[in-house]
This record gives sequence, C-alpha cells and structure tokens, in this order.
Amino acid sequence: MKISAFKPQEIIISPSILAADFANLAPEVKSAYEADAQFLHLDVMDGQFVPNISFGPGVISKLKPHSKALFDAHLMICHPQNYIEEFAKSGCDHVTFHIESDCNAQEVIDQIHSHGMSAGLTLKPGTPIESILPYVDKVEMVLIMTVEPGFGGQSFMHDMVERISIVRKLADEINPNLHIQVDGGINKETSKIVREAGANVLVAGTAFFRHPEGMSTAKIDLSS
Ligand code: DX5
Ligand code: ZN
Repeated sequence: MKISAFKPQEIIISPSILAADFANLAPEVKSAYEADAQFLHLDVMDGQFVPNISFGPGVISKLKPHSKALFDAHLMICHPQNYIEEFAKSGCDHVTFHIESDCNAQEVIDQIHSHGMSAGLTLKPGTPIESILPYVDKVEMVLIMTVEPGFGGQSFMHDMVERISIVRKLADEINPNLHIQVDGGINKETSKIVREAGANVLVAGTAFFRHPEGMSTAKIDLSS
C-alpha cells in the first residue's frame, strides 16, 4: 500500500496499536483493518528519545500478514538513520521521524524514499514549528503531535491546532499533496477540531482500540 493511493482531501484513520491488547496483537490488527481503518500506526520508542520502550521491526514484520492497511511507522528514536532499512524490510510503507532526533533530516528523508517508502516529519509540542517548514515540500506527510510523545491516553493539547493551519496553508502553496497527520488525544470531539484546521490523517489509540462500542463505531465517530 502506498500513500499516493490516498488523497489529502480524504479523512484517514490510523489506529495506534499502543492501545491494543499486546497479548493479542494479530487479531487486534486484523479487526482494525476490518473496521475500515486505512492505516495502521506503529509507535516505535527506544527508551532514550522518549521515556518509554514499545516494539521494533521484529514485531512489525510479524503483524504485516494480518492487515492490508498502510503500515505507518512513527519513530520516536534517537538515531532513525541506522534503522530505515530494517523498517523497510519489516513491511513499513511509511516512516515518520522526529526533527529533534540526532540526524540530518534531508538525508533521512532521502533514505526513506530510496527504500520505496513515503516519508513523514514530526516535532514535539515544545519545538518551534519553523524547524520543519523547510521540509514541507520534501515529504509526503507532516505529523503535528498533539501530546508530548511517549505515552498513549493523554489529553489533547489545544495549543497545537494553530500549527495544523500553518502547515496546511504552506502546503496549499508549495505541496498540495501533503497529508497532515495528528497524534495524541484524538477522539470524537477533538477529531472535528483538527479536521477543521486542515488535518486529514487522524491517529487514535485509546479512542479506537478501547471504544466501548467497538472499532467500527470508533471509525465512524472519528471520521464524521
Ligand atoms: C504517543 C504516540 C501516540 C499514542 C496516541 O507518543 O505517538 O500514537 O499512541 O494515543 P492516544 O490516541 O491514546 O492519545
Ligand atoms: Zn504516534
């Protein structure tokens, strides 16, 4: 699955498996796809870049046969440049990395593209938005974090909404195909706010995998 199969006008749901049952990941991932979620969000944490450890390419490769969704990796790791090939081999279709990580951003973008994947760039809530603006026309997706990265289940940071509008406005001028993703505290209410500001790819962990009425209702709640 390639990101070019999706239009930036389309609302896309990317369930974060961080909120799934880790003892039953394969059936959880299968159910997410059957609930019509187009992407699958894979939060990779190294315990250094963020104070939490999740999973890596070994787990991702085992999940790949269980879903036809676009595999959307979010690397919260210090040295993304050392692992791009491994993530490509594991079945990732898209890789987003952080501008704060210890790397040359343009080189990592080129590396991701050279492995046939689409590239995304993101930033922590405390990092100035100017840091990513030079790359808006170099990537297929920009991720605006709406919580401090590291953990699921946190509250949406309303201050981040303005960033979505800034990137959308710039993208309309220089990269109309750009997808704008948001991640953290996205639920039925906040999804409306971010969509109005110009985001089209919505990551949801808690509101998707732990929705009391199930994943299909979650998909509808988040996209309507
Ligand atoms: C946080 C992760 C998110 C997280 C979102 O570092 O990047 O993807 O799983 O979780 P919720 O939707 O529960 O806020
Ligand atoms: Zn994420």
